[in-house]
This record gives sequence, structure tokens and C-alpha cells, in this order.
Amino acid sequence: MAAKVKNVFFCNECGYESSKWLGQCPSCKTWNSFVEEPVQRKNAGGASFAGKGVFGERRMTPQKLSEVAQTFQERLCTGIGELDRVLGGGIVPGSLVLVGGDPGIGKSTLLLQTCSILAEREHKVLYISGEESPQQIKMRADRLEEPSGKLLLLAETNLDAVEAAILSEKPEVVVIDSIQTMFREDIQASPGSVSQVRETTGSLMRLAKGEGVSIFIVGHVTKEGVVAGPRVLEHMVDTVLYFEGENAVSYRILRAVKNRFGSTNEIGVFEMRSNGLAQILNPSEYLLEGRPENEPGSVVAATIEGSRTMLVEVQALVCQTNFNMPRRTAAGMDYNRVNLLLAVLEKRLGIPLAYCDAYINVAGGMRINEPALDLAVVFAILSSYKNKEAPERAIVFGEVGLTGEVRAVSMALQRVAEAQKLGYAQCILPYANLESIRKNRKESGGIALIGVKNVRDLFGVLER
Ligand code: TYD
Ligand code: MG
Repeated sequence: MAAKVKNVFFCNECGYESSKWLGQCPSCKTWNSFVEEPVQRKNAGGASFAGKGVFGERRMTPQKLSEVAQTFQERLCTGIGELDRVLGGGIVPGSLVLVGGDPGIGKSTLLLQTCSILAEREHKVLYISGEESPQQIKMRADRLEEPSGKLLLLAETNLDAVEAAILSEKPEVVVIDSIQTMFREDIQASPGSVSQVRETTGSLMRLAKGEGVSIFIVGHVTKEGVVAGPRVLEHMVDTVLYFEGENAVSYRILRAVKNRFGSTNEIGVFEMRSNGLAQILNPSEYLLEGRPENEPGSVVAATIEGSRTMLVEVQALVCQTNFNMPRRTAAGMDYNRVNLLLAVLEKRLGIPLAYCDAYINVAGGMRINEPALDLAVVFAILSSYKNKEAPERAIVFGEVGLTGEVRAVSMALQRVAEAQKLGYAQCILPYANLESIRKNRKESGGIALIGVKNVRDLFGVLER
């Protein structure tokens, strides 16, 4: 029976499907994201049951878990430690990894660098670009520190040709840059549409699992327009990495938001240099570079990203307002959380913050969504309001509750250890965390611990 073509509407953000146009997506709540696309419905059941399944040879009968043969597959280390950690310890053979990010953030550069290193180590790597010609890729590669002449390149957008190339070359690792340029001839919609992006990814998924080749897919995040974003694919792939960063600052953060083979919330930190991306092995030092010493309103906080501790500077500027409504801004943290903390201080300490503008900033363009940042924000606000600098070489962490109490946070020992490593002399932390730290810390020397039970105690530390 011939496949029927009909038009349906898709949300460009998340791929939600609807038979009619909708103003707002019921799934991801984005406005004006629906586009019309022709889709072909195959006969139900159809071809998918015949031949090879997604994971190689198809078995028609279920098997017991204990009977499944265990195959130990060694991960392929990329040689870029920051990437390996985010992947969960290297590339898993047969995995499909989506690398998303804004255009121009450095996705192609990161993957080209990774491929170069792997090719240099005698791994067979195929870099398929639908955006750049081999000459353009070579120009980019020449900027990098160690381009590899052994890397295989292919400029192609037709997925059938891509599949044929992968099957004939049998590489270990393939990069598809980008999925929004790839198309399958049997799908009517244009490249970059939700159905093309989904179907091409589906084909690549079968290829990855069937042939045991690891495939990286690049997906551009699109603000608006006709190109489907990488969120459409998140549920289909094994691992989703997002490459983030501000245009103004040169460092980039690679974040895992989904990982079937490792922990999420891991981050890798890179810096974009003129000769490609460089790893930043100690982000704390990097983020605190050029920090003003002994200035009111500047506090160092110990935060956790994934499994690593990072010290970041929190700045606050609190001054009398000239407006009817005081102005408040929060850069790098949640705006509502800042308002809440200001209200807690107003109520618990009686400070008239309702008549003050408050500008809060996590320096360096980092974005932190951790309650342990609360105490540092509160401390920075108090320090700026009182125009009194925080104690010298001190770090702060702790969660602040609505009654002004300071609550314990996780991984306190690690935070203290990181501060100690970077030469900090004091640590202001939740009183409730003190005991466990004292019990578990091997050496006691080095850093003074100041436990606070509530915001009043914290105020006392400032007044000391
Ligand atoms: P690119 O990897 O092309 O971004 P994406 O694939 O995510 O769209 O990165 C492009 C930017 O990186 C561009 O603005 C130039 C800059 N860049 C450097 O600063 N140094 C380099 O060595 C390279 C290759 C690019
Ligand atoms: Mg690119």
C-alpha cells in the first residue's frame, strides 16, 4: 500500500504534534512555534519488524536478564579530559550523542579538535559536514594546535550518502555537523523541519546501535524561525550535551543534561582561544581572577557543579532608590530567589531594603542554580548595605530559609577542601554542617570554620 501524505503541525521547540495550528504549545508553552509539515504515514507495523532491529540482530523471543551475554565495551578516551568527564568517562561505542548550542559557540571547533586527537591516535574518524566544504574545514583545522592529516572528511547533506559512507568506511566515531542540514529523500518536508530532523536522527540511531559506531550530532539552538531545535531530539539520543557561554566572555561550559552512560550535571569548562578551545582545569582560579580585594559587596561563594567544586564571586550593590519601585536585577542567579532573600533580610533584621535598589551579579557570566549560594548573596547584600567589606580571604556557602535560618547543604567537606586548596583562611558555613566536617576532615589546620545558625549570626560576623 502506498504511504499517505498529509499535513500536520509541529512545535519547532519540542516537536509536539497537532492536527491543527496552535498559538501556544501545550507541551513546552512556547508561543507561535507551530509550523506545518507534510508527513508520510507508513503502514502500521510495516517494515520495522523485518530484518535487523535497532540493536543489531533481532530476537523474536524475550530472554532472561541473566541470559543476556555481557559484553564489556571499553570507552574511547578523547584525550580532552573536560569532554571525557562530561561524557561519563569517554565515548561509549555505539552511542548517539547530541551536542547542542547557539550558532557560533564552538560546537564544530570542539568536535573537530576531538576528531583530530582521535585520528592522530590511529582511530578511524569521519567528520561529515553539511555546513562547510572540506576546504573550509581545513582552514578551521589549520587554526587548531594539532590538526591531524588522518581525519576523514565528507561534505554531504543527503542521509543516504552519509549512511553509505559510514557503512563502507566503517569508522569508530562519526560527527554529523549539523543535523539541521541533513535530509532523507523519502521525507517530503524540507531539511531542518521537525520531521526531517527526527527521521534522520532515527536512521542515525539505528546505524549507531547496529554497527557499533559512536555518532556525535550537532544541533543548533534556534531562537525562532523555521529550523527545529535540538530539544526535539533529546528523548531519542543517549546523551545530550549543551555548549553554553556568553559572547562577551571567552569561556564556554559544556553541560550534560541527559546521559544514559554517566552522571548528568557534570560540566566541562573551556576557553575559546585563537588556536581553538583550551581546557580550563581549575575554573575557580580562572573565575576569581581580577577580583577586587577587600571591597564591600564582594563575597566568594563555594558552589558545586556536578562533581566538582567551583568558587565564584558574588557581587551586590545596594543603594538608596530614586524610584517609586526599587530596581532589582539578578545576573547569574534566579531573580525571584534574590527578591525572596531581600524580603527575609528586611523582615528578620529590620533593614529597610524596600527603599533600596539592589543589583546582584555572579561575576564572570556563570549561572548558578544552587540554594547553597543563598548565604553568599545575603552576605554580599549586607556587606554592600553596611558598606563594610567581608572578612579577608573568606568563602561562604549555605542555604537560607524563609525564617532566616541557615540550613545545611550537601558536599560541605568538598567545598571547604576547595577553599583550603586555593588558600582561603576562613569559611562561613551553616552551623549544622560543622559537626560532620570536623568529624570527617583528616587534617584540621589551615582554615577557620565559622558556623552560623541564622542571618542574625551572619550579620554578627560582618559587624565583628
Ligand atoms: P564554531 O565552532 O564554528 O561554532 P558552531 O559550530 O557552534 O557554530 O565556532 C566559531 C567561533 O569560534 C567563531 O566566532 C570563531 C571562533 N574561533 C576562535 O576564536 N578560535 C578558533 O581557533 C576557532 C576555530 C574558532
Ligand atoms: Mg558549526
